[in-house]
Amino acid sequence: MNALRFILVGLGARSRVWRQVIADNPRCTIVGLVDVDADRRAAALAQCPGAVAGDDLAEVAARASADAVILITPPGNRHTQIAAACDAGLAILAEKPLADSLAAARDHVAAAASAGIALSVGLNFRYLAVTRALCELFAEDRLGPPEFGHFTYERWRDGHLPHLNKYPLTMDQPMLWEQSIHHFDLMRHVYRADPVRISARTWNPSWSMYRHDANVAALITFERGIEVTYQGTWAGNWAQPRFEWRTDCRHGVAIQSDMFGALGHARRDDPELIPVDLPAHAAWIDDAAALLADFVAGLADGAPLPCPGEDHLTSLRMVEACIRAAATGQTLDLTTPAVAQEPAGTFANRSTTPKAERIAK
Ligand SMILES: NC(=O)c1ccc[n+]([C@@H]2O[C@H](COP(=O)([O-])OP(=O)(O)OC[C@H]3O[C@@H](n4cnc5c(N)ncnc54)[C@H](O)[C@@H]3O)[C@@H](O)[C@H]2O)c1
Repeated sequence: MNALRFILVGLGARSRVWRQVIADNPRCTIVGLVDVDADRRAAALAQCPGAVAGDDLAEVAARASADAVILITPPGNRHTQIAAACDAGLAILAEKPLADSLAAARDHVAAAASAGIALSVGLNFRYLAVTRALCELFAEDRLGPPEFGHFTYERWRDGHLPHLNKYPLTMDQPMLWEQSIHHFDLMRHVYRADPVRISARTWNPSWSMYRHDANVAALITFERGIEVTYQGTWAGNWAQPRFEWRTDCRHGVAIQSDMFGALGHARRDDPELIPVDLPAHAAWIDDAAALLADFVAGLADGAPLPCPGEDHLTSLRMVEACIRAAATGQTLDLTTPAVAQEPAGTFANRSTTPKAERIAK
């Protein structure tokens, strides 16, 4: 088979990973580079000298013979990029979140479907060795069915660091759209269950460098009555990150205490956690490489497409439900179509604890 020819759109922080894993995959090659920033284009072109470069996907797609596009732009305003990919007949692997609103994400999924274009989302955390091991642990039924859990992610994310993207500093609900989306997707993926009810609070601590809420607390009910307490922050006030995902099952617990590993399990009377042996895993690289391999297999070998856009909409509904629940104080029923489909624009711009009010207290 000839290598699958990719155009990368967005040549910022995350594109470095995609350039590396494409270079390492003999079934893939980069033929096009798109960014509105000329310096970033030039730097990427120096690494991929044969590629066509430009600031507009439609124009680059017309000059480069390509099969697929990887969208690595900020999630807002992707309509033009999605339309250009569909017009050029290019399969799409879009970085998470597919959009910065559920309505826009639905538009993208519908546009790709009506053009007959494959659309996958870059949910690389599904491909971590620890996530695969957690899935296997629950599939084995050693612990019995999950009934409740807590998921805690506490991080001081210095959004001014040069190697990190800058747009989350000013966007609405950065924690939810940029980070919790991974966590919500992981919960659905590992528990094999969709959300049915959500209540939530979001807020911004006084020392946060983010314009909008960096903190999220949610109580989420999944199918089969699984209850999860979620706490996530990008403004945890200790530079040492903390992560714990504990699931209590009928016969015992599974505890993951590092985002990239440290998985153990115990039955109720075990004196200690039994660690799960995990294969060596280069965080960020091996997971993206595995996702890319599945995307290529989906396009070239007829395998199921990984992380389909349509499936991603359910995780995005969780994000919007958190925003709406936080703004209204309501518990949202995600099985009700009226709630699920109502646009969230009215609430998306509202911080539940405006900075001025908070500081004045
Ligand atoms: N899956 C993960 O683990 C992971 C990690 C980091 C970022 N991401 C995602 O990747 C995406 C990009 O994040 P990033 O960190 O690379 O951001 P970034 O700001 O570092 O890079 C984005 C690039 O897109 C370019 N751009 C913006 N609008 C454009 C347009 N209309 N056409 C062409 N180029 C445009 C910008 O000039 C910039 O170079 C986001 O969706 C983010 O959530 C995913």
